[in-house]
Amino acid sequence: MVHKGDSGTVLRSCKLRPRRQSIIYATATPMSQEIEKSTLTGSPQSSSESSAKSKKVMIIGGDGYCGWATALHLSNKGYEVAIVDNLVRRLFDHQLGIDSLTPISSIQNRVRRWKSVTGKSIQLFIGDICDFEFLSEAFKSFEPDSVVHFGEQRSAPYSMIDRSRAVYTQHNNVIGTLNVLFAIKEFSQECHLVKLGTMGEYGTPNIDIEEGYITITHNGRTDTLPYPKQASSFYHLSKAWGLGIRATDLNQGVVYGVRTDETDMHEELCNRFDYDGVFGTALNRFCVQAAVGHPLTVYGKGGQEQHSRTP
Ligand SMILES: NC(=O)c1ccc[n+]([C@@H]2O[C@H](COP(=O)([O-])OP(=O)(O)OC[C@H]3O[C@@H](n4cnc5c(N)ncnc54)[C@H](O)[C@@H]3O)[C@@H](O)[C@H]2O)c1
Repeated sequence: MVHKGDSGTVLRSCKLRPRRQSIIYATATPMSQEIEKSTLTGSPQSSSESSAKSKKVMIIGGDGYCGWATALHLSNKGYEVAIVDNLVRRLFDHQLGIDSLTPISSIQNRVRRWKSVTGKSIQLFIGDICDFEFLSEAFKSFEPDSVVHFGEQRSAPYSMIDRSRAVYTQHNNVIGTLNVLFAIKEFSQECHLVKLGTMGEYGTPNIDIEEGYITITHNGRTDTLPYPKQASSFYHLSKAWGLGIRATDLNQGVVYGVRTDETDMHEELCNRFDYDGVFGTALNRFCVQAAVGHPLTVYGKGGQEQHSRTP
């Protein structure tokens, strides 16, 4: 389904996105239903949750798989949440002829439904974080205390399809993150950044993966060095770099599952489930194959292993 003609479209669609006009403030107009407060989890709020009430968290990539579940979870906990997303993930689906197995609503409907079910508002900023002007406006308007940055092209296979996708992935992930760093520096210096990395940055070495540093003895001398990253795709390469501000770099392993307490509250809050060869993770594909009685297909050469960090 993937053909070369697709490739330029990704880049063009980002470049042509109109500046300034791209910010949309979701009105989150309540829908006709009564607010179903009884379905809220964790209610009444604990003291730690209510103390979080005034905290503002910006979720970049909040329309995506990890971001949507995180946005709802934090909103439900009493945080003030804003989603920043350019919806490019939905565009990839259209371009590659793939789709989430679970039907997902538009981000506007998702946010409206969340408001109608819980009474809680989530602000929406639709735009590209590679556009610094757009990101600046979002920062100035929302004034986040924390930013969780999920907003990247997150598929290694996608980054390896062709030159155009490799360049797009590098540009999107590196420039986007640079813009986030500079926006924090310029508009919100106290803001804490949680940046999603991935276990894949470490490759598949034949030793345990240490978080941070490893002590190495070589030719009779010993030193403690950063654990080496061995990125093996343009996607993984786009992540293997350092940060110099108040930040948590989370080198996350594969996330699985589609339901959370919050997404279960209404079918329109449903999260995505990718099972295709580009965005579907191996576990998701195994589950679908098992469910339809298809023999499990190996991933790559079938010999891949990943060693977790020692305790
Ligand atoms: N899903 C996993 O199992 C997993 C595992 C390890 C790490 N991670 C990391 O977590 C992050 C999120 O992963 P995911 O699975 O939720 O991905 P996803 O593709 O479902 O979501 C990413 C979201 O970011 C948005 N986005 C991308 N580029 C953007 C840009 N320039 N401006 C604004 N929005 C942009 C997309 O439209 C999408 O909604 C990624 O950085 C990924 O590497 C995910």
